[in-house]
Amino acid sequence: MQQLNNKRVLLGVTGGIAAYKSAELTRLLIKAGAEVRVVMTKAACEFMTPLTLQALSHNPVHLDLLDPKAEAAMGHIELARWADVVLVAPATADFMARLAGGHADDLLTTLCLATSAPIALAPAMNQGMWLDSKTQQNRDALIERSIKLFGPSEGSQACGDVGPGRMLEPLLLIEALACCFENRQLDGVHIMITAGPTQEAIDPVRYISNHSSGKMGYALAEAAVEAGATVTLISGPVALPEPERVRIIKTVSTCDMHRAVHDNLDTVDIFIGCAAVCDYRPEVPLNEKIKKNPDNHFETMTLCLVRNPDIIASVSAMEKAPFVVGFAAETQNVLSYAANKLSRKKLNLVVANDVSDTDIGFASDSNEVTVLGEYIEEALPRASKKVLSGRLISLIADNYTIWKTKQEHDDKP
Ligand code: C5P
Repeated sequence: MQQLNNKRVLLGVTGGIAAYKSAELTRLLIKAGAEVRVVMTKAACEFMTPLTLQALSHNPVHLDLLDPKAEAAMGHIELARWADVVLVAPATADFMARLAGGHADDLLTTLCLATSAPIALAPAMNQGMWLDSKTQQNRDALIERSIKLFGPSEGSQACGDVGPGRMLEPLLLIEALACCFENRQLDGVHIMITAGPTQEAIDPVRYISNHSSGKMGYALAEAAVEAGATVTLISGPVALPEPERVRIIKTVSTCDMHRAVHDNLDTVDIFIGCAAVCDYRPEVPLNEKIKKNPDNHFETMTLCLVRNPDIIASVSAMEKAPFVVGFAAETQNVLSYAANKLSRKKLNLVVANDVSDTDIGFASDSNEVTVLGEYIEEALPRASKKVLSGRLISLIADNYTIWKTKQEHDDKP
């Protein structure tokens, strides 16, 4: 069910006896990696408590269209825009009729009108109500509007009848919902990316750092999310907006970044070291600001620096290391230095770029790189960091898949 990973599912619950199954449905959606927000109609609250669905979805449940407090937190239009898909389960005969009629008399019908996300319904009602010609007309009208209907299935009903009108079981609903999304290259893959510079304190007001803007690493995080990955971004200090759907951990110094990487590496499949890490730090950062001494006429000052840990090398040296991708920002002999880094740091791929060219340098919006690996050397032509990061992620995904298949093959007895 990897297609649901990182997807935003708006689950609508209307007032039928099958509402009790929405708890299991919510649990399975969360298990599949989806982010879930629940909207309940008034009648649904007679069958299931909002508190249960709030606990299972880890989000407040939305109940009213005209609740100023809820609107202030996340308004109905915002909620409609937030959703990647709307699933109404169970969908009663009355809800289907109101939706078919284009009503907007409660939060759920309003959201369904406002959203541009696909909508799916899981009808659940008595067999006589389902077979009634009016319900069948509503069903046809909804299908005509490209609203999907999952089920209903046939069988014994809560009222004692036997026939069509049972809500599809939650597991089948999840499978049907996953089919609304294409299978993407990195579905179910966890990527960790380091980005930006690090800063090493000299005293409370001064530090050593570099010109990295973090743009490349942040663009890679966005491209990885678009390809379906779960992304953890370990960021140094940057002035960029936080990308959506990314778990971001902010760090300052190299030692902070090193710690944050290793504390969160457990389920990581691909590690991309894009940060411009300071190789050295002042041996002892001072607690007080260093003052100019008026009697001091020395023209120079000496700072004693000590070596920082090499984060990427420490990841690739692990016994069960993920697939590791490094960056080599060079000003001369770009490819030979990059090839050297590939073998010295035991990387699977290295992305080389020439930062002496200011058009593709640190703070620029464009880049041009060559990717080197054990079996590949591929030049990616100049493009915006956004476009380039999409191509890079695709190339990384292809090489990761080959590497993983080889590993699984080697592990077989
Ligand atoms: O700085 P250098 O050119 O060696 O960086 C090459 C790669 O190593 C980059 O991917 C960078 O993020 C990573 N690196 C690191 N920790 C360091 C130095 C570099 O992870 N201390």
